[in-house]
Amino acid sequence: MKKITIVLVLAMVAVGAWGQERSVLVAYFSATGHTRQAAQQLAEQTNAFLWEIEPFEPYTEADLDWHNAQSRSSLEMADEEERPTIKQCMNITPYQEIYLGFPIWWGICPRIIQSWLDNNVFMLEGKPIYPFATSGSSSIEPAVDYLKAHYPTLNWQQGRLMP
Ligand SMILES: Cc1cc2nc3c(=O)[nH]c(=O)nc-3n(C[C@H](O)[C@H](O)[C@H](O)COP(=O)(O)O)c2cc1C
Repeated sequence: MKKITIVLVLAMVAVGAWGQERSVLVAYFSATGHTRQAAQQLAEQTNAFLWEIEPFEPYTEADLDWHNAQSRSSLEMADEEERPTIKQCMNITPYQEIYLGFPIWWGICPRIIQSWLDNNVFMLEGKPIYPFATSGSSSIEPAVDYLKAHYPTLNWQQGRLMP
């Protein structure tokens, strides 16, 4: 009886994971809302599950001051090893296709994107990842090149800069 119950539970979990329509995930970080808006549009277009990558410690306006070399964002971006803590983790197992969105910071992705990738790297292997970004004027290509160089085992697709 115990064995049958276990098999039934496993079957239900499997159906839940594979049987659901939404196998696309739009995961994004946004500090001031532009990328959030882009991510919402993308999730609607692709019928995706939308997930915000939130920092445990939210960024204040002072944190985002790129004119100040000592601001939190400047310090984080100057240190390749920096990995800001994420507030909440999610299970990405059921998703087959990933859109990953972020604002361009100093030409590349904010370090919190690397926190998220580090947390999920094994679960992401093989899945196509479509980077998208918003920026003041920078293109997305250097950010995508950076991601490809630092996560070479992942299946990176062409990046898209969103309006
Ligand atoms: C710390 C920091 C660094 C930035 N660096 C760049 C940059 O290198 N190139 C650029 O075009 N925009 C840069 N921006 C502007 C953002 O990429 C742009 O405003 C983006 O749309 C913000 O997205 P969000 O509202 O989702 O946070 C920077 C913004 C911040 C806060």
